[in-house]
Amino acid sequence: MSDAEAYRADSRDRWERAAAGWEAQRDEHARDAQPVAVWLVEHLEPQPGYRLLELAAGVGDTGLLAAELVQPGGTVVITDAAGAMVEAAKRRAEELGAKNVEVRQMEAEWIDLGAASVDGVLCRWGYMLLADPAAALRETRRVLRPGGRVAFAAWTDYDANPWFKVADEALGGEPPVAGRPGPFGFAEPGHVESLLEDAGFDEILVDTLDFAMRLASPDAYFERQRAMSTRLREALDGLSPADHTRVRDALDAGLEPYLQPDGSVALPARTWVATALG
Ligand SMILES: C[S@@+](CC[C@H](N)C(=O)[O-])C[C@H]1O[C@@H](n2cnc3c(N)ncnc32)[C@H](O)[C@@H]1O
Repeated sequence: MSDAEAYRADSRDRWERAAAGWEAQRDEHARDAQPVAVWLVEHLEPQPGYRLLELAAGVGDTGLLAAELVQPGGTVVITDAAGAMVEAAKRRAEELGAKNVEVRQMEAEWIDLGAASVDGVLCRWGYMLLADPAAALRETRRVLRPGGRVAFAAWTDYDANPWFKVADEALGGEPPVAGRPGPFGFAEPGHVESLLEDAGFDEILVDTLDFAMRLASPDAYFERQRAMSTRLREALDGLSPADHTRVRDALDAGLEPYLQPDGSVALPARTWVATALG
């Protein structure tokens, strides 16, 4: 198996196992990440009747927001590689009574749609996780009609994202290596622009968007991270009780600068937001 294939297999397995935690934390994550969903959807300039595609949708919040804005007559194809995420997104769509969405399992690197078949593509925090993001962006351009837009988000640098760094450092994590697939794979300034240029996109706009992950308490942060990250869960589950306590103490110390007077925690998050014409 090639390195890329091994990475894909491991990643698929992890996301299948992470889905239950993502569904359990869905409301809090959707609330905190809402400014990013709004930026992405607005930059696609959705019109009634549009057919949009969401890649790596997780539990589907961004696509479901877009679905409201393409009515009447429009549809959103909400996709993710992990079957368990797709099932969670379907449950959410049913709960909201969203009739104009199609929720499907799909690989972002091999988009199972015809050329020029959609008016816009959304992807919040997906492309940078892929073994071959350049291939996924070429695929994205292939399925976009002429004049259609892509809008996506990818994390900026580790230091600007304490929501991730605090837990990672408490577990002894090292800063991520630039350019490797993962949450910070697109962190390097200029990387997003060059990927879009290489894939043939025009009118490229890349910006940063700051927001906060808000947790009711340090315990709630611990629980959210544990629920949503299989890596963290596995690392914690492998610790002796004494090491577990040490990690919790390190985590509490890391959270201190972000504690609010009411005992809640507000952790800064910074993401690239990008849009371009296909
Ligand atoms: C960080 S989550 C983001 C979920 C959602 N877009 C959000 O913003 O809440 C990444 C998602 O990418 C999906 N994913 C990972 N690799 C993928 C691939 N090769 N093709 C499609 N989806 C993939 C995972 O299953 C997971 O749902």
